Amino acid sequence: GKVGVLFGGRSAEREVSIMSGNGVLKALQSRGVDAHGFDPGERGLAELAAEKFDRVFIALHGRFGEDGSLQGALEQLAIPYTGSGVMACAIGMDKIYTKMIWLMHGLPTPDYATLERGTDLAQVVDKLGLPLIVKPPHEGSTIGITKVGAAAELRAAYEVAAGFDDVVLAEQFVTGREFTVAVLGRGAGARALPIVEIVAPQGNYDYQNKYFSDDTQYFCPPQLDAATSAEIERIAVEAYVALCCEGWGRVDVLLRESDNKPFLLEVNASPGMTGHSLVPMAARAVGIGYEDLCLEILASARL
Ligand code: DAL
Ligand code: MG
Repeated sequence: GKVGVLFGGRSAEREVSIMSGNGVLKALQSRGVDAHGFDPGERGLAELAAEKFDRVFIALHGRFGEDGSLQGALEQLAIPYTGSGVMACAIGMDKIYTKMIWLMHGLPTPDYATLERGTDLAQVVDKLGLPLIVKPPHEGSTIGITKVGAAAELRAAYEVAAGFDDVVLAEQFVTGREFTVAVLGRGAGARALPIVEIVAPQGNYDYQNKYFSDDTQYFCPPQLDAATSAEIERIAVEAYVALCCEGWGRVDVLLRESDNKPFLLEVNASPGMTGHSLVPMAARAVGIGYEDLCLEILASARL
């Protein structure tokens, strides 16, 4: 049937999504799939409906693509789509609600506070300590994020994040190693791909180091003892299932240096598929090439 690769969109991660979408489109076409690119940043839902796609591969990141709104529209249009459904996308796009669900499941995630206009920032520092990470809860790719090392810097960090979201997340900083776990499938069938460790220049895995730098190092599999590795995989899969994610996703984890305890940071319901991205890297480690990965994700598309 006719396949749409949805990419671009209107979020702050549009540029990343164009890279993901181009990669997926080429991969599917190279395997004989009748795949067509569709940029939801330039074209609307009426045009999407008119294309009469039999299924779509969502290669969008961020708002209006990864947050459940597009998924809801696709449900209305009865077009099967890759990845998680409306609820998992909506919750997964919000780092605060994601943490609430994880905490209800007894899963470890760094302590946090929510900041709004009028919040007493001094109290937040008293409660959480320093350093803190301040994030807009609905962005990705490190956009709008600041590490705060001194109480006097919190106001400015809040203002940066508040440029993206009304309610802002302040999270305890976990000093340690950074990992990500790709997960495929759903429910009891969800399974982790090999863990990827990220070692960014100066420990700063920011937008530049995510997509453009060749100085960021990746280890897959990383050097970890078997018990720690199993624990990271276990909590990543549980975190994914707790949010009712389906198809595919990627869970970001920090391993605290002081006691080797892993903490969940966030889930990406529509992870990057760029040349620098981590789900393709993890798949490659078990012999699944980029093209096969795209086919496998496409095959999991459902309504
Ligand atoms: N938000 C980016 C695309 C990622 O997690 O891969
Ligand atoms: Mg993200």
